[in-house]
Amino acid sequence: MPLPTGRPAATLRGFRPGDVPFVATIVAEALHERYDPGLYSSLSEEWPEGFLVAADSRDVPIGFLLGVNQVAGEARVLMFAVDRTRRNEGIGTWLMDAFLERSRLRGFRRLTLEVRVSNATAIRFYTRYRYSVVDLLRGYYSDGEDGYQMARDL
Ligand SMILES: CC(C)(COP(=O)(O)OP(=O)(O)OC[C@H]1O[C@@H](n2cnc3c(N)ncnc32)[C@H](O)[C@@H]1OP(=O)(O)O)[C@@H](O)C(=O)NCCC(=O)NCCS
Repeated sequence: MPLPTGRPAATLRGFRPGDVPFVATIVAEALHERYDPGLYSSLSEEWPEGFLVAADSRDVPIGFLLGVNQVAGEARVLMFAVDRTRRNEGIGTWLMDAFLERSRLRGFRRLTLEVRVSNATAIRFYTRYRYSVVDLLRGYYSDGEDGYQMARDL
């Protein structure tokens, strides 16, 4: 599926094990977290359609959204990031639109996510998607920062 903005070729596809090093690099830079490489494949197993990857013309991941289904009827956005050099091109919107579509197809009624209280860019993005703050999560992040839980109905 091509990027609808008409920007340089990019495709939206499912996660593949070979994506791990690229996804891990985006996570380290954008989310300041490092996870066991095996985590990505194991998280993708239960709901593979919930792990979306945007890849460039060489099929290298430039953004991804990892959604999981841990609570009945709900999808949770566990990780969501776009490579720093490719932001504000519509790739995040593309990923979130596809995620909403897949969540609806799967029959989920609610979406949830967590975000750092300082992450104004992401909070604005989510607010545009009608997510709203439902809880303050004190000391949620490993460095002690508070988080917001945000949610929206489908
Ligand atoms: C949040 C994030 C994933 C959004 O990804 P993105 O690819 O930049 O998202 P988009 O390009 O679709 O939208 C970003 C902005 O660019 C605008 N935009 C979209 N397409 C555009 C285009 N073709 N030209 C100009 N602007 C555009 C959008 O309207 C949006 O505006 P906003 O800032 O008012 O929300 C990205 O900022 C990111 O990776 N942040 C770091 C990681 C992070 O914080 N993740 C969330 C953790 S909970």
